[in-house]
Amino acid sequence: MGKPQALGAGRNLPPHMKQYKKLNQDDIESLAKILGPGLLLAHGERKEKYARDYTEDLFFMPDIVLLPHTVEQVSAIMSYCHAQCIPVTPRGAGTGLSGGALPVHGGICLSLEKMDRILHLDPDNYQVTVEPGLINQHLREAVEAIGLFYPPDPASKGSCFIGGNLAENSGGPKAVKYGVTRDYVLNLEVVLPTGEVIWTGANVLKYATGYNLTHLMVGSEGTLGIITKAVLKLVAKPSHTALMLVSFNDLVSPCRAVGQLLKSGVVPSALEYMERSAVEWSQKLVPLPVALPEGTAAVLYVEVDGFDEDAILQQCERVAAIMETMGCTDLFLAQGHDEQERLWKLRRVCGEAIKMYSVYKEEDTVVPRYKLPELLLAVKEIGARYGFESVCYGHAGDGNLHVNILRGQLSQPQWETAVKAGIRELFGVCKRLGGTISGEHGIGWVQKEYLDIVMPPLQIALMAGIKRVFDPKGILNPDKIFDLHPTAQ
Ligand code: LAC
Ligand code: ZN
Repeated sequence: MGKPQALGAGRNLPPHMKQYKKLNQDDIESLAKILGPGLLLAHGERKEKYARDYTEDLFFMPDIVLLPHTVEQVSAIMSYCHAQCIPVTPRGAGTGLSGGALPVHGGICLSLEKMDRILHLDPDNYQVTVEPGLINQHLREAVEAIGLFYPPDPASKGSCFIGGNLAENSGGPKAVKYGVTRDYVLNLEVVLPTGEVIWTGANVLKYATGYNLTHLMVGSEGTLGIITKAVLKLVAKPSHTALMLVSFNDLVSPCRAVGQLLKSGVVPSALEYMERSAVEWSQKLVPLPVALPEGTAAVLYVEVDGFDEDAILQQCERVAAIMETMGCTDLFLAQGHDEQERLWKLRRVCGEAIKMYSVYKEEDTVVPRYKLPELLLAVKEIGARYGFESVCYGHAGDGNLHVNILRGQLSQPQWETAVKAGIRELFGVCKRLGGTISGEHGIGWVQKEYLDIVMPPLQIALMAGIKRVFDPKGILNPDKIFDLHPTAQ
């Protein structure tokens, strides 16, 4: 990770934020009493890790870190902070890419890492109740052991928490067939910023009982409440999977192939794009089990899954035929589970691999998927004009392209001014193509300056009104998604 940028916690403070109380020794003692020994970190290196997430090289030190074990403790902490007007930033595993878990006003970092249990697995109803600090992969393994499946699989699934997935409404490669996190959430226990505790819905598959607070909470980026339990929907685990790596000699043919494939009636369980440089960066950490043909400009991952082996083979043949028509130069079929996993590992390490070389801004562009070729060409054209290098990869089947803009040797003014102007133009293209500025990483801290591109003031004001209802003092994850202007108080 690069050297932290020297950003003070007070940067761009809106006027009302000066009303936040600075923690004193009495507060620390009162909070320590709620938690018990060892669950409050006030000093030293252990605290420092909570000043970062995966977003660029941003660094905001919390005054203290709290590690509650129970909903009662979370509730008592929030009641105290509400009464005292102390800002609280909830945190999952810190793998977020929009700065949602950064304690930008100092105060309290509330880490959910100790609340990591599977509370109830209900195979009859295909449901599971979990705590927010559970690692995504641990959930998958537990349910797969009894033939069930939890599809949302962000690239960071080996370390990210379900709580963070809920906060960001995370997607991942399987979204093209199975949908995103929100599609698997039935009911949530939430501690409100006042300390009150609610359940948002019921443990049922259909819900027509007033406003859907469950869906409101999912994707609210930790600004409306702290999720302390989640009841999730499961599906049957497919018994067979096939994975193909398809090479092309130009950047946009794979995107056009995606459109053709989806029109043909094939239902892929993943449809991922990587331009060559993304593969090359990832190869520095994970070897590719096959050599790419010379001249390869981009690759597609095409996965199909199901319960009938013959049907899967037929789908593979159709995929191969369509890819050939679209001008692919090679199609590699992974042999067996281990080879599939190696290919997937390469795809998943992409962000981490690029970060080892350079700080980057990760843009999470999303457009209707038939517009992907236009978006990709615009990224490269804008980059050439504003002088930045980009590495593109992502979820082609969802029209969701991650554009990693490398800092490389760019000066601070170029990074802060020219690159931001380029991003603004790029997001303008997303809007013109009918898309938006984030598909799965959220707005958080770093994208809010661009929200006006896709959202009129009235819509932002409606969101601010909702925030006010849940959090009248603006203490929970303040200034994420949009600024809490004094009028929003
Ligand atoms: C991915 C993350 C960055 O798709 O969303 O790799
Ligand atoms: Zn992604």
